Amino acid sequence: MTETYNYKVVRQFAVMTVVWGVVGMLVGVFIAAQLAWPALNFDIPWLTFGRLRPLHTNAVIFAFGGSALFAGSYYIVQRTCHARLISDGLAAFTFWGWQLVIVLAAISLPLGITSSKEYAELEWPIDILITVVWVAYALVFFGTIAKRRVKHIYVANWFFAAYIITIAVLHIVNNLELPVTMTKSYSLFAGVQDAMVQWWYGHNAVGFFLTAAFLGLMYYFVPKIADRPVYSYRLSIVHFWALIFTYIWAGPHHLHYTALPDWAQSLGMVMSLILLAPSWGGMINGVMTLSGAWHKLRTDPVLRFIIVSISFYGMSTFEGPMMSIKTVNALSHYTDWTIGHVHSGALGWVGFISLGVMYYLIPRLYGRELYSLKLVEVHFWVATIGIVLYITAMWVSGVMQGLMWRAVNDDGTLTYSFIESVNAMHPFYVIRFLGGLLYLAGALVMVYNLLRTCAGSAPVTAEIPAPATAH
Ligand code: HEM
Ligand code: HEM
Repeated sequence: MTETYNYKVVRQFAVMTVVWGVVGMLVGVFIAAQLAWPALNFDIPWLTFGRLRPLHTNAVIFAFGGSALFAGSYYIVQRTCHARLISDGLAAFTFWGWQLVIVLAAISLPLGITSSKEYAELEWPIDILITVVWVAYALVFFGTIAKRRVKHIYVANWFFAAYIITIAVLHIVNNLELPVTMTKSYSLFAGVQDAMVQWWYGHNAVGFFLTAAFLGLMYYFVPKIADRPVYSYRLSIVHFWALIFTYIWAGPHHLHYTALPDWAQSLGMVMSLILLAPSWGGMINGVMTLSGAWHKLRTDPVLRFIIVSISFYGMSTFEGPMMSIKTVNALSHYTDWTIGHVHSGALGWVGFISLGVMYYLIPRLYGRELYSLKLVEVHFWVATIGIVLYITAMWVSGVMQGLMWRAVNDDGTLTYSFIESVNAMHPFYVIRFLGGLLYLAGALVMVYNLLRTCAGSAPVTAEIPAPATAH
């Protein structure tokens, strides 16, 4: 393999993507089991649902998703700029720094150390470490863009640039806090302002971390694997600007029917509805890139992972705007419907595209042929059945919960007590657990396949082939 580019850091992040993916899913399956069988809390504080849930979300979003994005963006920025990362030292710092953040999260969250802001639970010393690592990431990424040897900045890099800048701003503002001890701080915001800032952060973590950055992966790997040019370059530019402009306003849809002023809630709703268009612009551009190469879906299960992920992206970005309509949200909010929506985006879109990209990258980074395409196929089907079980169980459970809570008798009293709705959810929690177990089982098949790949002898390629997207 040529040493022109820094593949070491890409390889490190790629391996950790798989490791953290399995860990995060394992915790997910365990907390799913706890919801079905509460005895699994064992009355041990650090093993309770309340402490493990944020461990799950942090592990899957920031450890699994984050590592996939570091690996993908470092790979793509070098390949499309025809330039090595600007600093190997800083790149290595981002790897070790990010792993340290993850380990500190894995220790502090089960201990109950939390700022209690969703997706921003980590306490202030870790927040500062994240900021330092992120600034280093920005320096490596933009430094490499600056020293590029091609004039053009490929569209994938636009998405990574937006994600790096926006996540920095979101992280810093939402975590402005007053430390009182090493492990406790209080937010600078209070009351409804706190809620507003939190969901401006939370929604844009979805918009920029879980969406824009993964679109960056899509814009490189779909044309590359399908060996076709991007369907419409113009569409990619238009939907990029529309997406980043619109996302930033949509946060209030998380705060419908709260103390937030009504006009702000309605604005959040309208912006969320508008968001359907740029989201589908991305989906259409990704899927249509396959024009003329559809047959590859039959023979290439790696490409199938990625294309199905784009379909889930389309589905969850249709569902999201619908759920942001206030009257729909009156039913869906606080119910499992939200959890179903989250996991169609998380397991389908973020999970599948990350897994597909790792199947592509890891064999190449180790200069090996993938051990078994058949096992990729097995992974694909087992995981797909897992997702379908998970999200359909949550839809049924969620709508049922919402309807049971709002049912009233003729005399105005509630038809069902809360515990009756909890009882009714039980079978669906068991189905969700089984779905999660399948998704995890698929990932373990992947681990086996990749281990066999790396253990295999005789490197097949001396060099990673030149990018199809070269300009
Ligand atoms: C084996 C796979 C997985 C299982 C079994 C699983 C299970 C769960 C469970 C049981 C919850 C708590 C639900 C509740 O509080 O009612 C949850 C929450 C969550 N999970 Fe997963 N999960 C899995 C994979 C993932 C992945 C890969 C991601 C992201 C890439 C993800 C992102 C989230 C998020 C963001 C939440 C919080 C949702 C909210 O607050 O509305 N999960 N998961
Ligand atoms: C056009 C795009 C989207 C819109 C308008 C949208 C809208 C919504 C709405 C209305 C909720 C429910 C809020 C509530 O009742 O509390 C929600 C929750 C959520 N969505 Fe989406 N969604 C979109 C796409 C996505 C995607 C692609 C993902 C994941 C990759 C995602 C992840 C989440 C998460 C994690 C939550 C739960 C937040 C929480 O309460 O903890 N969304 N979304």
